[in-house]
Amino acid sequence: MAAPNIETIVSLAKRRGFVFPSSDIYGGLGSAWDYGPLGVELCNNVKQGWWRWMVHERDDMEGLDSSIILNRQVWKYSGHEETFSDPLVDCRECKTRLRADKLEYSGAASIEEAIQGKQVKCPNCDSTDLTAPRPFNLMFRTTIGAAAEEDDPTALAYLRPETAQGIFINFHNVLTTMRRKVPFGIAQIGKSFRNEVTPGNFIFRTREFEQMEMEYFVRPGEDEPVHQEWIDYCHNWFLTLGINADNLRLYEQPKEELAHYAKRTVDIHYRFFPEREEEERQWDELMGIANRTDFDLKAHSKKPEDAEGKRLNPDSTEDLSYFDEATKERFYPYVIEPAAGVNRTVLAVLMDAYTEKTNDKGEKRVILKLHPQLAPIKAAILPLAKNKPEIVGMAKAIKRSLQPTLRAVYDDTGGIGKLYARQDEIGTPFCVTVDHQSLEDEAVTVRDRDTWEQERVKVSDLQLHLQSRLVTKL
Ligand code: GAP
Repeated sequence: MAAPNIETIVSLAKRRGFVFPSSDIYGGLGSAWDYGPLGVELCNNVKQGWWRWMVHERDDMEGLDSSIILNRQVWKYSGHEETFSDPLVDCRECKTRLRADKLEYSGAASIEEAIQGKQVKCPNCDSTDLTAPRPFNLMFRTTIGAAAEEDDPTALAYLRPETAQGIFINFHNVLTTMRRKVPFGIAQIGKSFRNEVTPGNFIFRTREFEQMEMEYFVRPGEDEPVHQEWIDYCHNWFLTLGINADNLRLYEQPKEELAHYAKRTVDIHYRFFPEREEEERQWDELMGIANRTDFDLKAHSKKPEDAEGKRLNPDSTEDLSYFDEATKERFYPYVIEPAAGVNRTVLAVLMDAYTEKTNDKGEKRVILKLHPQLAPIKAAILPLAKNKPEIVGMAKAIKRSLQPTLRAVYDDTGGIGKLYARQDEIGTPFCVTVDHQSLEDEAVTVRDRDTWEQERVKVSDLQLHLQSRLVTKL
């Protein structure tokens, strides 16, 4: 089972402290969200799992953490200043801003023609009085320096719209300091910013978000099979997170959808909108795996020159080509780029883990069957009688003994049934109950979130017992 729609997760996330609407006390800020105590743990677990899988468990990978604000030239030569835009349409009637490429029309050759022929309706007010589409650059602008005026072009800078460019401009630094040879990759996790025209659907599309990206440098000609390997490798990662294979699909981007740098891109889609009647509209992008060719390394290099001998990049001081010692060849490596969103991964794992179960009293219970490695809390220690100091003392001591190795909480704010239900709903794999008998036999009851089965475990064995059941690999 999975959540029937995103709204179910929005409500659970707010009720249980995963995600709150940002700036709520001032009326909110369209599509900005704050991650609460459980949300920050879940995000961290996703990022740590990705980093371990992508960097630590491979022999051909290095990590990086580059700046969010880069020299403006980076975005000029990457092509983002010129082409990183969405086609924007305004509704003259209700003033809603719309993305032209998301508007539905039929019977016209193009969206421009359809708008002119009044064949497109504003989805908000049904008016056909829409402006012609115009490009809207998605990069957030800022100014650098204390004396900078708003419109001073020399002070203009951008918040990065992708983490990838920080990797390209550090290609030589990493290559030489780590004595790497192609093929190898550089991975990075960090915030990116896009002034999206139509943000929405909870944390699916926001203006501030976090990416997990990796640029894999290969010899030209070897790019296509390596691209395919990364597509399969990434698809498999989502399966190891416990996501149901039926809710994932691979999507080959048609030529007209490809970004300006891409030769081929395959997206991994998740069924984010299961409530939609039309099957095709149920899916959207969770991650993209692109073949960026040698576009970026060449674009940032002081070479090459064009046919007339004109330097194509007069601002860069470096040539980012690679010299292969074995073959004595110099070339610009091709780049395979798996790029995933932390927030969309969090949304997908929450939706997929959502399960409802009826207890023996006929009451509906929500269980979040998160992968144990992703669960924000691994064990909740619960006293059966909170007015019995010996039981409370023993439960608190058990919590303290577990907390250096796994995230544990103590809770005595309700009856045991209520406490179990609360932990099930936030995805805690184990509840550990301390009762009267525990004082005599030095043992506790361990309850499994998914089966509700209980077993008696000696306190002295508890840590090893829980850890061995938690280590299912990410
Ligand atoms: N460097 C390539 C790149 O940025 P992308 O497909 O634009 O590619 C990669 O972004 C991933 O980042 C997406 O698959 C998605 O998970 C996430 N992402 C992109 N825009 C987002 C947004 N506005 N809100 C949340 N996540 C976003």
